[in-house]
Amino acid sequence: MKHPLDSEYYLPADQFFQKNAPTGLTYDDISLATRYSEILPKEANLETKLSEGLTLQIPILSADMDTVTESDMAVAMSLNGGMGIIHYNMDNINQVKEVARVKHHIHGLIQEPVTIKANLKIGDVLDLIERKDFNFRTFPVVDEQDKLIGLLSGSVVRERYRDTAVIKAMTPRERLFTLDEKNLQGDPISAADKFFNENIGIHKILVIDEDDHLKGLFTLSDVEQITAEKNSLLKPSRDSNFRLRVGAAVSAIRNPDGSIDRDATLQHIQNLVDENVDAIAISSAHAHTLSMGQVVKLLRGSFPDLTIIAGNVTSAAGVEFLAGCGANAIKVGQGPGSICTTRIVAGVGIPQLTAIHVATREAAKRGVSIIADGGITKSGDMVKALTMADAVMLGSLLAGCRESPGEVIEINGQLYKQYRGMGSHAAMKAGSAARYGHEKAQVGRKIAAEGIEALKELSGPLDKILSEYIGGIQSGMGYLGAPTLADLKRRARYIRVSSAGQRESITHDVIEVKTPKEN
Ligand code: XMP
Repeated sequence: MKHPLDSEYYLPADQFFQKNAPTGLTYDDISLATRYSEILPKEANLETKLSEGLTLQIPILSADMDTVTESDMAVAMSLNGGMGIIHYNMDNINQVKEVARVKHHIHGLIQEPVTIKANLKIGDVLDLIERKDFNFRTFPVVDEQDKLIGLLSGSVVRERYRDTAVIKAMTPRERLFTLDEKNLQGDPISAADKFFNENIGIHKILVIDEDDHLKGLFTLSDVEQITAEKNSLLKPSRDSNFRLRVGAAVSAIRNPDGSIDRDATLQHIQNLVDENVDAIAISSAHAHTLSMGQVVKLLRGSFPDLTIIAGNVTSAAGVEFLAGCGANAIKVGQGPGSICTTRIVAGVGIPQLTAIHVATREAAKRGVSIIADGGITKSGDMVKALTMADAVMLGSLLAGCRESPGEVIEINGQLYKQYRGMGSHAAMKAGSAARYGHEKAQVGRKIAAEGIEALKELSGPLDKILSEYIGGIQSGMGYLGAPTLADLKRRARYIRVSSAGQRESITHDVIEVKTPKEN
């Protein structure tokens, strides 16, 4: 349902960005035109493909930064349909462990349940609950070798039984319902669900190994909640073995003369692959370089099926180069990030939407996907990025979440978390110097930082934050009549926004009143 007048003013990407060249444009410089729509926002499908083997349920990645993504964030990202990329400012052994934590996570299975020993009295258990502020009262009972010997039910953990010994009050091993961990392969939640169906009145299942060691605990209420979730539109992103997806960022390990230590680098990647990592991101502020090309080629040669994300670039030549070396997905963005000072320090970088446009034109020819990395401050920016890119990468918007690494800091009654650029002095000292082309040993001598250290207000759990962003993206797709992200790309028409137009776009001339949200 096109109208010739609309076509004169609201242009598709190819015409729009070319007409505006040589001016580079970023998110607030443009707005999207609405289109005839037959879909409701909640029907919009956010599935995206980063490589042949890697499809995500939502087009959002958490950044490989040491104040954004470790295993807690990666688990939460994947449970919400996206994927986290574990940063590399830690030693290699730890990074492999972080990936393993995500891959072994089973939503709904409490993997290390709090256990008690049989020589305690119920009074000791009550004191433990009080001391640790536990919000549960049922405890598996184990012996010195951690073998299961009973279950202390919450119904007997009461003041009136304070002097009773746990060994007398617990349900003994022979009367417990247990599930061998071997039976959890494939789809553990369906296995647990089936078990609860077949054993009416049982609310907890203890998972054990072949030697009767306790390996986990399922509760009926968790399993019911997850089963309900399975019917919802957004699903966790999982691999073919039902494990959560996760990526890991790496930099090449180098010999003292600066050349790549091929064996050590490939061994680390092999260790990550052995833990079933879903993607390796090779991150550098400037990825259109000889050394980045060497690393991407090295990995591609040794791991033909591995999803390789490489970046960052902002040119068609950069995309062509990385795709030619074997990357599947390419990150675009130099200097748009909230904590970046690359444009100030080095004077380089392209306003983000123009960079994404140029990169995606080349990517379409090379069959690679594009990740819009940095500079996103609201869900509207995500919609704009996704009119061309296949996914967005977020740092600042996620750094205040409960799941991001780091302590909560209190300043004048306000709660914050640290957020720092990987090119800040502090992060480079901790290991990320390679990303900015510096040796770690040089940090502290005269090298220019390309990022700052900052704080983010504490923003609550990730799923709450992501649901707002997902809602925003779906809303944009509704306005453009786009049931899928491929349709969003096809249907996007752009208009340039003046500074008066930008003022008009944000709330103005009112005093905002906030109604608290109901939980
Ligand atoms: P946002 O805007 O989401 O950006 O906070 C996150 C992205 O910024 C990049 N990054 C940096 N860029 N100096 C830079 O120029 C830095 O110190 C720095 N640290 C991170 C990175 O691409 C990230 O995903």
